[in-house]
Amino acid sequence: MVKGQVKRVAVLTSGGDAPGMNAAVRSFVRKALNSEYDVFGIYSGFRGLLDENIKQLDLRKVGQIINLGGTVLKTSRCEEFATTKGLKKAANILNKNKIEALCVIGGDGSFRGLLELAKYYTGQLIGVPGTIDNDIPGTEYTIGFDTAVNTAVVAVDKIRDTAASHGRIFFVEVMGRHSGQIALSVGLACGAEDVLLPETKTDIDKLCQKIQNTKKQGKKFSIFIVAEGDDAGGAFKIAASVKDKINLSARVSVLGHIQRGGAPTAYERVWASRMGDAAVRFIKNGHNLVFTAMKGGNLVPAYLTEAVNGIRNVEPELVNLVRIAGGGS
Ligand code: F6P
Repeated sequence: MVKGQVKRVAVLTSGGDAPGMNAAVRSFVRKALNSEYDVFGIYSGFRGLLDENIKQLDLRKVGQIINLGGTVLKTSRCEEFATTKGLKKAANILNKNKIEALCVIGGDGSFRGLLELAKYYTGQLIGVPGTIDNDIPGTEYTIGFDTAVNTAVVAVDKIRDTAASHGRIFFVEVMGRHSGQIALSVGLACGAEDVLLPETKTDIDKLCQKIQNTKKQGKKFSIFIVAEGDDAGGAFKIAASVKDKINLSARVSVLGHIQRGGAPTAYERVWASRMGDAAVRFIKNGHNLVFTAMKGGNLVPAYLTEAVNGIRNVEPELVNLVRIAGGGS
């Protein structure tokens, strides 16, 4: 595609919703309109693309949304899109609607979908990382992470009150099917005794030993943050194993989808707006199959292949820091 040639662009949100997606949609749409593009919203993610649920957007259609959680464009997890038939159908619909560039705000699964779509569609495909998990390789930040962590921190601070009053052990489960990023940040922010993550091996015997040691050292209550995808099987299973081994009745709290909702934080609104803007810039500059990546605090184009092939690991020093600062042995 030649620089400056694009006239009709579309945006959709895909996968799990994330606070801040609306801020990204708003800035994408307004920046694209400002660049004299015709702008279209595709409703309900890739499902909506296959259903040709496409509407033209104007300035006012994205008014009053910067402060809203969820996504006004709606979203979906669409299995049909992952099939050859679905991908060809999607490409045909984009061509029929003369969409020359598509911006997808979503997670690594959505980015994988874009790489597959590129086999049948010749327009520009641009990703914006949107998932509360912050688990996309190649970017330091994904839209939704900051709000999700803050939501969990508010909840854990409340749990701390009751844990302290009763002198109890709590296992608090946060989201993250394959990633411990939320758990790690929440653990650090809440002064948890430890974090149990999918990226690190959870040893129940060592955990029990630790609980007994810290109790002996005078610790009256403890909070452990568990990522839902932890290898030992989530907070309920871990609490049951601890009960079996040392006959200690811990309490469990699973925060679940509460972390996906709510008004985005200011940080989220700023960076989501900047990513929406960057996506239009990348289209203008003729980029294809890239996403708006935060690297060293700057937004740069990074290839989608980096996001789907790399690994976003947790930093071992931060896991250690939780443990040291948590005061456990
Ligand atoms: O990818 C974001 C996320 O919230 C994960 O943390 C979680 O495991 C998953 O989505 C839940 O997905 P769903 O809402 O489709 O059950």
